[in-house]
Amino acid sequence: MFVLGIESSCDETAAAVIDEGGKLLSSVVWTQLEEHKRFGGVVPEIAARAHLEKLDEIVKKALSDANIGFEDLSAVAVAGGPGLIGGVIVGVMTAKAIAAVLNIPFIAVNHLEGHALASFIDNPDLTFPFLLMLTSGGHCQILEALGIGKYKLLGKTIDDSAGEAFDKVAKMLDLGYPGGPYVEKAAAFGDKKRFSLPRPMKGKPNCDFSFSGLKTAVLRIRDNLGENITLQDKQDLSACFQEAVADVMENRLLRAVDIFKEDCPNGRYLVVAGGVAANQTIRQMIVNVANEQGLKPAFPPLSLCTDNAGMIAYTGLKRLQAGMQSSLDFRPRPRWALYD
Ligand code: KG4
Ligand code: ZN
Repeated sequence: MFVLGIESSCDETAAAVIDEGGKLLSSVVWTQLEEHKRFGGVVPEIAARAHLEKLDEIVKKALSDANIGFEDLSAVAVAGGPGLIGGVIVGVMTAKAIAAVLNIPFIAVNHLEGHALASFIDNPDLTFPFLLMLTSGGHCQILEALGIGKYKLLGKTIDDSAGEAFDKVAKMLDLGYPGGPYVEKAAAFGDKKRFSLPRPMKGKPNCDFSFSGLKTAVLRIRDNLGENITLQDKQDLSACFQEAVADVMENRLLRAVDIFKEDCPNGRYLVVAGGVAANQTIRQMIVNVANEQGLKPAFPPLSLCTDNAGMIAYTGLKRLQAGMQSSLDFRPRPRWALYD
């Protein structure tokens, strides 16, 4: 059995093939970075057109890398949302067309469930229930993952996501696009104690996040440094910002671990997914929290942390095996919560 996965919900055009054992046979990701770079952010209209131009070729490459043809496919899975609607429509229509022509099941996958389950691909020991931190450009949530399609929200951001904050700080400091990796690189040469930054939400009894105050505090310091801001200033500010994000996340995560242990005493894993999980400082903090709390940390491999279709193919396979295929009248969803 072979499942084709398609991802086009943001600025990566991707396709992948997985076999029935959950082994990834191919994963092709074409990033639209160059198209959006000069705008300093993803432009939805440009993204949709680029997906339309590239997707057929990427799907063909995923099939040929897996050494199979269209006729070998057993099902097609696609990120049906949440995301930029133009791109999601391109992916969904392509997947529906393939499914209709081949007369095989069509599975619309929640992009966030894709991120959530990506860790299974490389980690056969992972089992439900697990504590899940989703931290990407568009989302910042902590959930209890109870089963395929079953998630309970413990906390989420009340304003920006962590990835968004990284991207905005990179823009303020003119470090590059997309911001997260550039801030991380700059922070490696910075003094994380030089500036004092706030720790929004720290100590609150719930598990919610807030990053917009932190971002504004960085802006204020940058403005005070004025036009003569040096590379060292930017590196120090990046280090302080990254430290503040990690510190707030640690606090929120510890609160969530308490709740998870009460709700799911048999849960053994802390899974972290989404682009921000590529950040080494944040990863290390999470590993420490997990170790201290008697949970096993699990991350997708770096290539499956940021947007990709392997995670969509995997989630499609699991949904197919659970009898959860979608109807061809599925409507692309710009918003789609993972929890009820
Ligand atoms: O999961 P993802 O690829 O796309 C979404 O679904 O949003 O996440 C992208 C986000 C961006 O905001 C990017 O700046 C952030 O993840 N990111 C990072 C790092 N790599 C990617 N943030 C901090 N440190 C990184 N190394
Ligand atoms: Zn994503």
